[in-house]
Amino acid sequence: MECKRILRLLVACLVVLAGAKLFFHSRRTEIGEYTNIKKYVTMPGHFWMPERTAGRSNLLVPPTPKKNKEKSGDQKTAIHPKLEVKSTVQAPVKTYTGPLRVVHLDLKGAAPKVSYFQQIFPLISSLGADGILVEYEDMFPYEGDLEVLRSPFAYRVEDIEEIKNLASLYNLELIPLVQVFGHLEFVLKHGQFFNLREVANFPNSLNPLVPGSLKLVKEMLTQVLKKHPQTQWFHIGADEVYGLGESTNSKKWMKQNNGSVAALFLSHVTKVCHILAELKPGIKPIFWEDMLRKIKATLLKESGLSSLASPMIWKYDANMNLVQIGELLSNYQQAGFQNVWFASAFKGASGIDQRWTPLNHHLENHLAWLKVMASMSKYSTMKLDGIVLTGWQRYEHHTVLCELLPVAIPSLAICLETLKYGSFNHTAETEVQRHLGCKVDLKANSCEGNGSFAGSEVYYMVQKIHNELQKSIEEMTQNYHLRGSFGPYQRKYNFANPRNIGYFKGVLIKLLNEWDHFMETFRMEMLVVYFPDTVEEWMEENVNQYMDKLYSLAKDVEHIVKLKGQPKSLKTV
Ligand SMILES: *[C@@H]1O[C@H](CO)[C@@H](O)[C@H](O)[C@H]1NC(C)=O
Ligand SMILES: *[C@@H]1O[C@H](CO)[C@@H](O)[C@H](O)[C@H]1NC(C)=O
Ligand SMILES: *[C@@H]1O[C@H](CO)[C@@H](O)[C@H](O)[C@H]1NC(C)=O
Repeated sequence: MECKRILRLLVACLVVLAGAKLFFHSRRTEIGEYTNIKKYVTMPGHFWMPERTAGRSNLLVPPTPKKNKEKSGDQKTAIHPKLEVKSTVQAPVKTYTGPLRVVHLDLKGAAPKVSYFQQIFPLISSLGADGILVEYEDMFPYEGDLEVLRSPFAYRVEDIEEIKNLASLYNLELIPLVQVFGHLEFVLKHGQFFNLREVANFPNSLNPLVPGSLKLVKEMLTQVLKKHPQTQWFHIGADEVYGLGESTNSKKWMKQNNGSVAALFLSHVTKVCHILAELKPGIKPIFWEDMLRKIKATLLKESGLSSLASPMIWKYDANMNLVQIGELLSNYQQAGFQNVWFASAFKGASGIDQRWTPLNHHLENHLAWLKVMASMSKYSTMKLDGIVLTGWQRYEHHTVLCELLPVAIPSLAICLETLKYGSFNHTAETEVQRHLGCKVDLKANSCEGNGSFAGSEVYYMVQKIHNELQKSIEEMTQNYHLRGSFGPYQRKYNFANPRNIGYFKGVLIKLLNEWDHFMETFRMEMLVVYFPDTVEEWMEENVNQYMDKLYSLAKDVEHIVKLKGQPKSLKTV
């Protein structure tokens, strides 16, 4: 409580400081009122400092390792009295014994603060999930030689403990995911690991044959397992191993072993499974199966992989090819796999830079998976262990953010309830409404009303930005006088009639002030859920380029009005 108050004070101080800075700046420079001051409240460039210097101390709300209390709610209620944090929800008594329903938390971008997990784990649990697949990527507190892998905002050891506590409190099976082959960009981007790359110029994939590769993988697995000693399953990723077979080592191996890229893939994954078994006997490894899709059952069987691990078949489309999935299932059964997993998607799979989650797309995807699930009796020697609802935060380490997690909570709720009830029928819809406090409108692609779910402030504010920011600016710039008297040439040469500027100045300044004010609140709401690096990244991608247009117009207006219609001159005058 005390801590919260101090933090609120801190945030308030920062706002005051920023305000003061703005005030003095505009006083000092007169025309500086609409320069880009405010958007840099989050100070770009400061995020990448080592933890020791930048750290979590300044702007952040450190996750409070308190359970069963009103969580960061009090901080939020100060801004939004309507917020009802559902963190006191008791874990539902589980009677369901079918395939596990597991929610994927992709932390390789926009990783929420642990305080947000305190709010959504109970929600996820009460929506019918049985587990969490946590893809730590650079958010895990790797230590020793691997410390370099940590993001500046990586979770601390205490945070991992809190995540585990929350999962157990709400009956959620916690399954860690560590990439061991492809998508190791977060490792291979670092200079000291360049020699482990399969393709020298690309950070994607590990060269499985170079000395040091298995040692690295083993060290990562060891560190993560040490923090998850109780886990039954372990996801080793292994999807999209781009470039595999291109290194000299790989070419030589394939030649010597009369092997293919497929055999090379199987060889490495099998080795990793043996390492896992050594570290924790009885553990059940899971891997993404896309690299297996073209491999014949006989080769799969020969590799021995089918007795060591379970494939996770992933498809995120709305129109899934069920025949193709059936063929994969037959092949995997024939190869001797006894367990299989499915992966659907509730977000982050409909567009590389998707900002607003298409509800229907993800609902359709789940309806298709339900059909596949209903067909499992055809594969009598293979059991479906579970389905993971993936929520991708980026397509890969170096690409832009997809939808933020709070933005996809309605989609997650729809997908989980659909899996629970076998369709998105009226019961499922009512359940979603009961848990979220808003009513799903698939046609409008929105959860209409005043949702009270954790993160709903971010949800509604992102919706407004998504629907209105760009549009409102485009509409404003269609103004007759702006088009006619304030074109790029006029602005470049300071050559405009203040009389004409007067016709659109008011509208411009009003729009700028409205959005500016809105973004200030939005930034605060984002900082409740996210670390500053995420806020900066999201704003840069989705907001700043539009706001810059407004700032720049306003700045030119201020300047050119003062010239009272003098002859042309360049900006320097
Ligand atoms: C190499 O593989 C080919 C095709 O799979 C097979 O015909 C051949 O006998 C193999 N050679 C050796 C030396 O194993
Ligand atoms: C929705 O489906 C579930 C499961 O089949 C069923 O129990 C429930 O009655 C259905 N609700 C409606 C309104 O049809
Ligand atoms: C949401 O809340 C506002 C203000 O309290 C109210 O005017 C509006 O009708 C509510 N909307 C819905 C759909 O409940």
